[in-house]
Amino acid sequence: MTPLLDDAERLGRKELEVLQLERLRTTLRHAYDRVGFYRKSFDEAGVRPEDCRSLADLARFPFTVKADLRDNYPFGMFAVPEDRIRRIHASSGTTGRPTVVGYTERDLDIWADVVARSIRAAGGRPGQKVHVAYGYGLFTGGLGAHYGAERLGCTVIPASGGMTTRQVQLIQDFRPEIIMITPSYMLTLLDEFERQGIDPRSTSLRTGIFGAEPWTERMREEIEERFAIDAVDIYGLSEVMGPGVAQECVETKDGLHVWEDHFYPEVVDPFTGEVLPDGEEGELVFTSLTKEAMPVIRYRTRDLTRLLPGTARAFRRMEKVTGRSDDMVILRGVNLFPTQMEEIVLRTPGVAPHFQLRLTRQGRLDALTVRAEARADATADERAVAARSIAAAVKEGVGVSVEVEIVDPETLERSVGKIKRILDARGAG
Ligand code: DLL
Repeated sequence: MTPLLDDAERLGRKELEVLQLERLRTTLRHAYDRVGFYRKSFDEAGVRPEDCRSLADLARFPFTVKADLRDNYPFGMFAVPEDRIRRIHASSGTTGRPTVVGYTERDLDIWADVVARSIRAAGGRPGQKVHVAYGYGLFTGGLGAHYGAERLGCTVIPASGGMTTRQVQLIQDFRPEIIMITPSYMLTLLDEFERQGIDPRSTSLRTGIFGAEPWTERMREEIEERFAIDAVDIYGLSEVMGPGVAQECVETKDGLHVWEDHFYPEVVDPFTGEVLPDGEEGELVFTSLTKEAMPVIRYRTRDLTRLLPGTARAFRRMEKVTGRSDDMVILRGVNLFPTQMEEIVLRTPGVAPHFQLRLTRQGRLDALTVRAEARADATADERAVAARSIAAAVKEGVGVSVEVEIVDPETLERSVGKIKRILDARGAG
């Protein structure tokens, strides 16, 4: 398939870098002049917007973290008068204040463009139908996908999350080619197709655009095989825009091209904040290059990945996100991520692709129980073998001992959006 490209996707590296520097300087100036928070943080760091003369100079500017957005709740980070804000989104915020983000008309326009570009890179074409099962509302997933799909010239089915039985019916009746959904909720749909006696490989779906949570290559294999579709990764975060900051191209499926004409990526050492060379793993940091309502300067995502050279596009790629520093479990000195468990559970015969990690305290030490669900046809022997082989694989691959519990089919809670893998029962006594 020949990919159709927009003008920015055709830029060479040199031209792109010229564009980035110009936009970066404008953004730094805009943030400094219009947002009290940035004026103060630049002043404290002793830098002025005009000190940025090359892309590398960005490293001299201070970071922005989630707490800065919370401290400026609700609209303190906005760089335009409130009557120019056309949309607000917010993260649910498990504790305290939600994180609020705002968009001008032009921001919404660019957001639709980058999501349209993402769907096209995933293999989507005008005239196709897109079933959007990301949640609609304050979460950026649903509406972000929605306007991007419309911009590309697709027909949108705004299903939102939940009501799983009906999702299956809509897919059967409306026959969309594309689905945009979290990978964990796709597995919930898989169960529902099977429960209704419909072969998931027989649907009209050809492409799945999965994001909003980390997922592994093994999960890609599982979903592609069970649904007979291409499964590609979409990345984004509300603070930077929403979905459509980076997208995997269907022709290579080798990590996500960052839409670098709008979002400038850096990878830094999570402890020292030092910028790391491309190829080295660390924390992803973004600076917006075109945002008006809420420019973000060196926003620390807490997502761990590395930057790689472009392949299907000249834009650099980010490797599939292996985890968030927030989701890292430290078990007897060993760092462990839910994605490592996903790789192991999904390749273990006899268990379904559903699992949960339960963290408890045993004396002064933390302990982890992997709770994986047996496949419906697994025998007691197969379950015992699965438990042993998961424990052995974790010991060997991660270097730490965990308990494994194989639970009955359909007992673990199913995802309807972003899945919560870790159940922290350490406070439970
Ligand atoms: O989850 C935006 C989004 C919606 C992206 C739909 C893709 C699809 P937030 O709720 O602000 O925004 O959460 C952002 O989710 O920092 C990552 O930790 C995680 N995340 C998003 N996409 C991916 C992905 C949306 N493809 C946070 N792989 C980010 C891994 C992802 N993690």
